[in-house]
Amino acid sequence: MDEDLKRKLLVVLAVLLLPSSAQTGNTDRLSGHHCTDFQTANFLRGSKLKVQFLLFTSSSPSCGELISADDGIKNCSFNSSLETKIIIHGFRALGTKPSWIEGLVRAILHTSQVNVIAVDWVYGSTGAYPSAVENVTQLALAISHFISKLLALGVSGTSIHIIGVSLGAHVGGLVGHFHGGHLGRITDFGIRIPVGHIDYFVNGGKDQPGCPRFISAGYNFLICDHMRAVHLYISALNHPCPIMGFPCASHQDFLNGHCLDCAEPFLSSCPRIGLLEQAGVNMSRLPQEVKVFLMTSPSAPFCVHHSLVEFHLQKKRNRVTSIEISFSSNSTKDTAKITIPKDQETGKHLLAHRVPLCQINSVTLRYIPKNRFWSKDEPSVVGKFCVAPLPLNSSRTRSCLPWILTLPSKTDISYDLPTACA
Ligand SMILES: *[C@@H]1O[C@H](CO)[C@@H](O)[C@H](O)[C@H]1NC(C)=O
Ligand SMILES: *[C@@H]1O[C@H](CO)[C@@H](O)[C@H](O)[C@H]1NC(C)=O
Ligand SMILES: *[C@@H]1O[C@H](CO)[C@@H](O)[C@H](O)[C@H]1NC(C)=O
Ligand SMILES: *[C@@H]1O[C@H](CO)[C@@H](O)[C@H](O)[C@H]1NC(C)=O
Ligand SMILES: *[C@@H]1O[C@H](CO)[C@@H](O)[C@H](O)[C@H]1NC(C)=O
Ligand SMILES: *[C@@H]1O[C@H](CO)[C@@H](O)[C@H](O)[C@H]1NC(C)=O
Repeated sequence: MDEDLKRKLLVVLAVLLLPSSAQTGNTDRLSGHHCTDFQTANFLRGSKLKVQFLLFTSSSPSCGELISADDGIKNCSFNSSLETKIIIHGFRALGTKPSWIEGLVRAILHTSQVNVIAVDWVYGSTGAYPSAVENVTQLALAISHFISKLLALGVSGTSIHIIGVSLGAHVGGLVGHFHGGHLGRITDFGIRIPVGHIDYFVNGGKDQPGCPRFISAGYNFLICDHMRAVHLYISALNHPCPIMGFPCASHQDFLNGHCLDCAEPFLSSCPRIGLLEQAGVNMSRLPQEVKVFLMTSPSAPFCVHHSLVEFHLQKKRNRVTSIEISFSSNSTKDTAKITIPKDQETGKHLLAHRVPLCQINSVTLRYIPKNRFWSKDEPSVVGKFCVAPLPLNSSRTRSCLPWILTLPSKTDISYDLPTACA
């Protein structure tokens, strides 16, 4: 579905579902300060920005401390010798606190000792989408002003990392612009064109696996794909399995096995979603606007292992050959389809599997003949099967099943896949 239509529907939904106006306040016993929560805005009255900066630290990860960056910052839990993560949410159809904020704050504090500041602009972000958009510049100025005060207090620009979600991503970009590109890092989610040093196109960047495909799923249909970015990020922080991307020209090229390593331009280190310095890439300066591609599983923790699967026909055929490949482990089965073009010997594709290759017990191949009304396809195909785990490098190369395989039509043929875990 077209994004604009989704957005319009989102606004329609906002009118139908009014928020409850529960407001909570309590005191954190460890830090002794009063806990401040996000505001709740009735969307009909959402006409003021009323920005709040809420500080979370590892000593009180679930108690927001309302801060202002004047002299008051000296008397709060803000630690200026630590890095600072500033989270900016997006459009809030219902004028409520984003449900993912707590998870993201906790995930960040789980991995690193930092100041986390959540920007609450619920008031300015509700109502109709276009009016929330109109508030973006003013919000960016407010945040920028806040950061300038931090800088005046001796906080270094490079220690500041902005994490913007959806409309908050645009705000993050503006704030970065207002600071002349001197902030440490910006992580944003949300547009098609590459704008960062590294742009991750997850599952191609559009429809996400596990998200509903039909409007009957209601609100989740509208936002599931879009909000996947946040859940992916939280997952990348909470789980050790790497969510890494591979530089490539397009998602289709990536799926077709044309981009198998991170040699160019990342000097053979693949960028990873999460908080690793320079995305874990082993180079002194990141190049600009590199598009990287990756697949995920439909549910958390989302990370998959990518392997190249190849089938080499013993002799070329005068029609397209389709072979389904499945990797089975004790608990998973993941499938991909190899298509060998007419008059070619080799077909290849990427297969995303949820457990490492060394835990895959068997590979199943199934030849799907292309029968036509006027001519039946051959009853079997003969060839060789090879696999290679990504990223390829000098020590991780293709390995092939040692036999010539005969695949009868529409029949599952399974082989052990012996790969020792390192
Ligand atoms: C910090 O705030 C507490 C409680 O409001 C107050 O008792 C204390 O004097 C303040 N300290 C400084 C250095 O301002
Ligand atoms: C601030 O963080 C530094 C580095 O972790 C730590 O050594 C210091 O004790 C912290 N200061 C306060 C007041 O907690
Ligand atoms: C936010 O946008 C709305 C709609 O344009 C506007 O009425 C409101 O004044 C804006 N708020 C601020 C603080 O600029
Ligand atoms: C990182 O780069 C340096 C210099 O290019 C190289 O010596 C080192 O082996 C690389 N490390 C990894 C893990 O790729
Ligand atoms: C898979 O199951 C077999 C038999 O129960 C067991 O020996 C093996 O350790 C299991 N492998 C993994 C990776 O759990
Ligand atoms: C090859 O890649 C694997 C996985 O990224 C890595 O563990 C290994 O060190 C690499 N080997 C070489 C020689 O770069």
